[in-house]
Amino acid sequence: MSKYWSDVVHKLTPYVPGEQPKLDNLVKLNTNENPYGPSPKVIAALKLEAADTLRLYPDPNSDALKSAIAEVHHLNANQIFVGNGSDEVLAHVFQALLKHSRPLLFPDITYSFYPVYCGLYNIEYQTIPLADDFTINVDDYDQPNGGIIFPNPNAPTGIPLALVEIEKLLKKNTQSVVVIDEAYVDFGTESAVSLINRYPNLLVTHTLSKARSLAGLRVGYALGSPALIEALIRVKDSFNSYPIDRFASAGAIAAMQDTAYFEKTCSQVIATRERLIKDLLALGFAVLPSGANFIFAKHHLHDGAELSEKLREHNIIVRHFKSPSRIASYLRITIGTDAQSEVLLSALSEIVG
Ligand SMILES: Cc1ncc(COP(=O)(O)O)c(C=O)c1O
Repeated sequence: MSKYWSDVVHKLTPYVPGEQPKLDNLVKLNTNENPYGPSPKVIAALKLEAADTLRLYPDPNSDALKSAIAEVHHLNANQIFVGNGSDEVLAHVFQALLKHSRPLLFPDITYSFYPVYCGLYNIEYQTIPLADDFTINVDDYDQPNGGIIFPNPNAPTGIPLALVEIEKLLKKNTQSVVVIDEAYVDFGTESAVSLINRYPNLLVTHTLSKARSLAGLRVGYALGSPALIEALIRVKDSFNSYPIDRFASAGAIAAMQDTAYFEKTCSQVIATRERLIKDLLALGFAVLPSGANFIFAKHHLHDGAELSEKLREHNIIVRHFKSPSRIASYLRITIGTDAQSEVLLSALSEIVG
């Protein structure tokens, strides 16, 4: 607290990111990073970028990166917005497209950054409870609103929502923007990108932090109609003209172009997830269905906080959310390599066994 702070800063409740411990030898399954490094082509592109040209500003419009993204998604470059991680893209989305006189709607259990953006930009919001099985019922969003946002698959549950449900929502909700945050979509969830040319109020956000193994480079993007994209560009150019630096651009282009590596590593993560779910069920855990690179699991005899603390004693870190109370018994476990799953399973069988 300081008398020098603005009123907005006094009222902020900032987002708390998952821990990035400085210790070595940890099995780090707490922030949904990819256990596999980026494509070797990304590393080669980054090395080339370490050159005299760093004295020059990057392209403020990121045209080359937008073209690479457009090609992957079969869209035009004017349907793409890029930013410094999808968190920055989302921040601009909240300010540019979701601040209206009616409340923004999002699930009660979801990405905990959403209410933080609402606090920062003074956006009124209303949370819509997930069903008892933690699924999203799109009919619950059929009410006057200033916008709708949720991740698909949802976080931290990992539960995917079928594309037909999203289209049902879009058919009814035509007067405000619907944002589908597809940070984890590449791990087995149907993407809504195919609906973009039919629904001018649909915006889809993606990140290179998860399926493209580039959390450290900070690149994310939004896909939608040119009018929605223009709103985001207007905010970006009133904030920071160069969110994508020369390294981020070179690395992200190489990552978007290496489809074979992307597909191989995503399939490996999915295969490890399915094996881990089977083994956790055998240990007496209940695991929610997952279309993501993490799972949400609980044990009927052990509390989530206790399991998380005991795993830490085994040098394994996972994410536990104390609130809301409905999810306090759960652990969110990022899918690592098969070897990391083995370490996790042997620790858990010791703890619960
Ligand atoms: C649902 C969801 N959306 C967006 C993000 C932000 O990702 P990034 O800023 O790394 O692109 C995350 C990160 O964990 C997330 O869980």
